[in-house]
Amino acid sequence: MKPSSVKELLSTTPSHQEVLVNGWVKTFRSNRFIALNDGSCLNNIQCVVDFEAFDEALLKEIATGTALQIEGILVASQGKGQSVEIQVTTLRVHGSADPETYPIQPKKHSLEFLREKAHLRVRTNTFAAVMRVRSALSFAIHKYFRDNGFYYFHAPIITGSDAEGAGEMFRVTTLDPKAPPLAEDGEIDYKEDFFGKETNLTVSGQLEAEAYAMGLGKVYTFGPTFRAENSNTSRHLAEFWMIEPEMAFYDLDANMDLAEDFIKEVLSYILENCEEDLQFLEKRLLDEEKSKPQAERSEMALIEKLKFIVENNFKRVTYTEAIDILRNSKPNKKKKFEYPIEAWGADLQSEHERYLVEKHFKCPVILFDYPAKIKAFYMRLNEDGKTVRAMDILFPGIGEIVGGSQREERLEVLKEKMNTLGIDEKELWWYLDLRRFGTAVHSGFGLGFERLVQFSTGMGNIRDVIPFPRTPQNAEF
Ligand code: 4AD
Ligand code: MG
Repeated sequence: MKPSSVKELLSTTPSHQEVLVNGWVKTFRSNRFIALNDGSCLNNIQCVVDFEAFDEALLKEIATGTALQIEGILVASQGKGQSVEIQVTTLRVHGSADPETYPIQPKKHSLEFLREKAHLRVRTNTFAAVMRVRSALSFAIHKYFRDNGFYYFHAPIITGSDAEGAGEMFRVTTLDPKAPPLAEDGEIDYKEDFFGKETNLTVSGQLEAEAYAMGLGKVYTFGPTFRAENSNTSRHLAEFWMIEPEMAFYDLDANMDLAEDFIKEVLSYILENCEEDLQFLEKRLLDEEKSKPQAERSEMALIEKLKFIVENNFKRVTYTEAIDILRNSKPNKKKKFEYPIEAWGADLQSEHERYLVEKHFKCPVILFDYPAKIKAFYMRLNEDGKTVRAMDILFPGIGEIVGGSQREERLEVLKEKMNTLGIDEKELWWYLDLRRFGTAVHSGFGLGFERLVQFSTGMGNIRDVIPFPRTPQNAEF
């Protein structure tokens, strides 16, 4: 018999048909009721065992965590909370789970505890729901770009240029760490290394995506990126997934329009397709927030918040306007900010971003036209000579979710910028070629995938929205 998934069975009209299903036992009550789940959906299927018909030794093996194959008859359920159930005829144990040692018992486990058991935590309702939403978001992202004429582009993971400046990098080398070859000046001789030069894991696929946008028109990357910053926050990972669209002939306005439409579209997709999981996650969040002081609780429940994003325009504000708002804000005047805002040019900290989004505008904000000094070398210089066509999208509870810009397409301006910043032209010769041959206005942005998953699921810590998080001092599993 062909196995069915729990999800399929739960939406089947019962007519005493024979069914076969595999899964893990969530609970086994009164030696009679097995709640079985296979990950296909949030809900379990109830399987009713006539214990007199089965071997006692076999029933003893059934406990939370046991992997089972069940054959039986699908009938309308007498019990509350489910429409169908299986009257079990055959039970096969794939593998049992000793209740003395199996950590995922049917009780509330803390997220911290489950982080230590990252290989088993997906068997809890919370993590299964988060990971199903993560998968749906990932599909929605590919679908959005495909529907809008973009090509999926695979940026290299190992990179030889370290000029992006987005963060500290992880070195990739095959040299013997105990006895690396040395050059005449006593420094490590990377000419002897695998690639004949220093290489690192990429912090962003942008520069390579620019090359491809200048031939394919509209491309996007969706892959892992790596940053060796020592940031132990609830928003930073050392390995995270980033989506980076890059579009020829797009200026900053078109870039902002795309980013806003894109985010709204993928959130609509999960609102339509992940209802059950989102409802569960919303309830989880409400329970979690009960233990917090009123002021720290979110004003909207999860689904309401997602709908709010989809239905409302993001507020677009220049950096200069934002600085004025912040300078005159209550927390700034009362010296409540850790980094007080004094003058134009200050880099914005997350406390400032959150003030703008959560207290002042109360909606997502796109900040644009930042001072050139606090942004990357490749952003297009404005006529004023001191700001660049940068944009960051700030989200409630998350802070920066997107960073992007219109790129500097003028060879001379770009070269001058690189010179002042001490970036070697030789190292980025190919990037400069893009401005030598058929250059054009172009733009793009990067969306941190885990921050989007965090926002979508209401999970407070980024370590709980990626299967196996990589953070300082932590690469178990
Ligand atoms: O603002 P960032 O550094 O931008 C870039 O890397 C550009 N090259 C993107 C582009 O224009 N193509 O990073 C983009 C986004 C951030 O807004 C944030 O959401 C996420 O990536 N991000 C991180 N997410 C998790 N952990 C980290 N350490 C992150 N650093 C950035
Ligand atoms: Mg940024």
